Amino acid sequence: MRDELLAPEPVEPGELSEEVSLRPRTLDDFVGQAELKDHLSIILEAARRRGQAADHLLFAGPPGLGKTTLAGIVAAEMAAELHVTSGPALERGGDLASILSQLDEGDVLFIDEIHRLSRAVEEVLYPAIEDFQLDIVLGKGPAARSIRMDVPRFTLVGATTRTGLITGPLRDRFGLVARLDYYEPDDLEAIVARAAGILDVRADADGCAEIARRARGTPRIANRLLRRVRDFAEVRGAGVVDAESAREGLAVFGVDQRGLDKVDRALLRALCERFAGGPVGLSTLAISVAEPTETVEDVYEPFLIREGLLMRTPRGRVATPAAWEHLGLVAPPRSSDDAPPPGLFG
Ligand SMILES: Nc1ncnc2c1ncn2[C@@H]1O[C@H](COP(=O)(O)OP(=O)(O)OP(=O)(O)O)[C@@H](O)[C@H]1O
Ligand SMILES: [Mg+2]
Repeated sequence: MRDELLAPEPVEPGELSEEVSLRPRTLDDFVGQAELKDHLSIILEAARRRGQAADHLLFAGPPGLGKTTLAGIVAAEMAAELHVTSGPALERGGDLASILSQLDEGDVLFIDEIHRLSRAVEEVLYPAIEDFQLDIVLGKGPAARSIRMDVPRFTLVGATTRTGLITGPLRDRFGLVARLDYYEPDDLEAIVARAAGILDVRADADGCAEIARRARGTPRIANRLLRRVRDFAEVRGAGVVDAESAREGLAVFGVDQRGLDKVDRALLRALCERFAGGPVGLSTLAISVAEPTETVEDVYEPFLIREGLLMRTPRGRVATPAAWEHLGLVAPPRSSDDAPPPGLFG
């Protein structure tokens, strides 16, 4: 039971094409992430001037912040062909080898969820990205022999929601490891306004700001909330996205003032009510809201931590006073065994 507002890809085909049309195609259209954009524009410009493929790039960060979008932008800015695959799709070394052997000079190869590459595939990837070499094994058993092939100079763009799971040797082979951060409300407002323009939705500044404030710092969610408020305004209102229709529409879809959705609140509620505010282990917490541990860790927790509602401690997850307050609950007095043992950290 995953909340539809956070699902990685829209379910309806109509919305899929809308999401594609909303994707910025150039670095200039890409809102926010100023530092990352700056670094990227220098790297791409330098590569263009030298007439070479850009260095390999790794984008890391929570879902919906623009990693796939950036891969497309890199290819577009370099006027290069984009090839797309993902960690789980590459089962054997041969799967990657066949993709690599089809690349042309300067192409961009995007590997989504690169933290999920198998060891065998990583082994094929290393020489390809480091020395632009590909070892192909011909035949099987004792008669097998391997030949070395040149791979054209290409740019690998990796995306991951989990930098922690990328092996050191793989991470070190990227020329840039960029972390995407949650977006500031101003940037999200610009993203909502831009999307409203593309989707031909009548939206005023207050409406865009209201949606931006509740979008969990995430462009994908901002765009999706805009579509839901648009629907709400068309069906129940005058068809205009303004502060009022945004507030009412978002309330109908279970998004609260702070942008927390049902699952966010269920997590905090479980933490506070069932586990007395913690500390509680991640998997126990995930089970209690019937979500996969990985989803809680990648999708929900980073936002709740950033909002100062949840903390990670060595003993487990803990609700902050702000979490109790947000749920309208009163935190129990801290028991003495929550305090660090005297002298341990002193
Ligand atoms: N900086 C941005 N400016 C404008 N729109 C953006 C920006 N970043 C993302 N978006 C919008 O958000 C949507 C989601 O972005 P994208 O698919 O690139 O996220 P992602 O990081 O690849 O997510 P996932 O980890 O789930 O694959 C895009 O369709 C795009 O419309
Ligand atoms: Mg993506």
